[in-house]
Amino acid sequence: MVHVLMGLFSNLCACLQTRLRIRRHNAAEGAPDDVVETNDLFFELRTLELATNFFSELNQLGHGGFGPVYKGLIPNGQEVAVKKLSLTSRQGIREFTNEVKLLLKIQHKNLVSLLGCCAQGPEMMLVYEYLPNRSLDYFLFDKVKSTCLDWTTRFRIVTGVARGLLYLHEEAPERIIHRDIKASNILLDENLNPKISDFGLARLFPGDDTHMNTFRISGTYGYMAPEYAMHGYLSVKTDVFSYGVLVLEIVSGRKNHDRQLGAEKADLLNYTWMLYQGGKTLELVDPSLARCNQDEAAMCIQLGLLCCQQNIADRPDMNSVHLMLSSDSFTLPKPGKPGIQGRGGRWTTTTTSALTNSATATNASTTNTGATRVSGGNSFIDEYSRNSMSVSSIEEGR
Ligand SMILES: Nc1ncnc2c1ncn2[C@@H]1O[C@H](COP(=O)(O)OP(=O)(O)OP(=O)(O)O)[C@@H](O)[C@H]1O
Ligand SMILES: *[C@@H]1O[C@H](CO)[C@@H](O)[C@H](O)[C@H]1NC(C)=O
Ligand SMILES: *[C@@H]1O[C@H](CO)[C@@H](O)[C@H](O)[C@H]1NC(C)=O
Ligand SMILES: *[C@@H]1O[C@H](CO)[C@@H](O)[C@H](O)[C@H]1NC(C)=O
Ligand SMILES: [Mg+2]
Repeated sequence: MVHVLMGLFSNLCACLQTRLRIRRHNAAEGAPDDVVETNDLFFELRTLELATNFFSELNQLGHGGFGPVYKGLIPNGQEVAVKKLSLTSRQGIREFTNEVKLLLKIQHKNLVSLLGCCAQGPEMMLVYEYLPNRSLDYFLFDKVKSTCLDWTTRFRIVTGVARGLLYLHEEAPERIIHRDIKASNILLDENLNPKISDFGLARLFPGDDTHMNTFRISGTYGYMAPEYAMHGYLSVKTDVFSYGVLVLEIVSGRKNHDRQLGAEKADLLNYTWMLYQGGKTLELVDPSLARCNQDEAAMCIQLGLLCCQQNIADRPDMNSVHLMLSSDSFTLPKPGKPGIQGRGGRWTTTTTSALTNSATATNASTTNTGATRVSGGNSFIDEYSRNSMSVSSIEEGR
């Protein structure tokens, strides 16, 4: 008993110490106006260094388009994931913290929680809650591990991601278009419930067009709506399209593009449409599923096709998607041909030299429908920069 109390006490002390240091740091930054808020916003660099074993390789969880991610343990005993943003943002610390403040207000059970940031060292860092079961791609695209994802779990992931996206599009304090919905950005909690990660990151890098990430491209292109890939037209329906591709991946247990499966099956969307037309949709269902609710699976496939319609207006919004998934009596409309062409499959390899002049991507005109059109220019550069959400500065206002 005494030991437990002592433990609690020292944790509390460590916590208070951190707080105090945070307070001093803020004072130095000259932001006395909102001390209470910023108190919860900043982590000391020192705290994060200690938490991650000085960003040791052993603590590294992965490396994405923005930089490496480390597992850490902060003094209050909480496990965290620290994302080092290797792109040095052109905006100042003030703008950076304003964006982080906004993101801190974006809270939902199907979104990874942001806990705060650190803007002290050479790199900006974001601190997130740690999720123990990695990301969806880790399970889904592995023959053995995918058996952990039974149908009930998969259906829960399909509905959970829909719920998180609905929140981002319609309910959050500010509308967020994610732009990078894909299996590796769906993290799983201890019960394999889905949480969307990396939402709002594009907002942190307005006009930062010099730092390109070649490896972002190959994995992401198959999820991109054609009008976004080809013309830079961004709207909530961009996310709906990516969500549709993700749903088909969850049902089929395969990646949206897999050359090894042969010309007929290589493109998941193309193959699904072929099966649907032939009345054989259930052939798509992952063979590693021992059991499966066929009604739900058929609904998911039809929903996936609807979300991937070529014509933007033919895609449901997330409100409708959520309704379709939660109501038994809802009859789904018949999908037409999905947007198979123009998703930018050309960009599997590239060079960085052509990318330093992608300022065109920073010019955007926002309409009050929440849709955005990036101004034209060199199509290679446009398409390239759009592939990487980290370089875009498109406003996402309502
Ligand atoms: N909050 C977290 N909890 C646990 N693991 C995480 C967390 N955030 C990220 N990871 C792990 O770190 C890996 C890298 O994440 P990161 O977001 O940098 O890359 P990515 O999702 O593959 O690409 P992108 O940059 O396009 O998002 C993820 O695949 C995941 O396994
Ligand atoms: C998910 O994480 C929890 C807690 O860490 C663990 O007990 C469980 O085995 C994990 N599930 C899978 C399928 O790995
Ligand atoms: C779609 O599938 C057909 C075969 O079913 C194939 O001939 C065609 O090339 C595919 N198209 C695309 C864009 O993958
Ligand atoms: C981008 O916007 C700036 C400022 O509004 C303008 O000067 C420039 O000409 C625009 N560039 C393009 C390619 O539209
Ligand atoms: Mg990610």
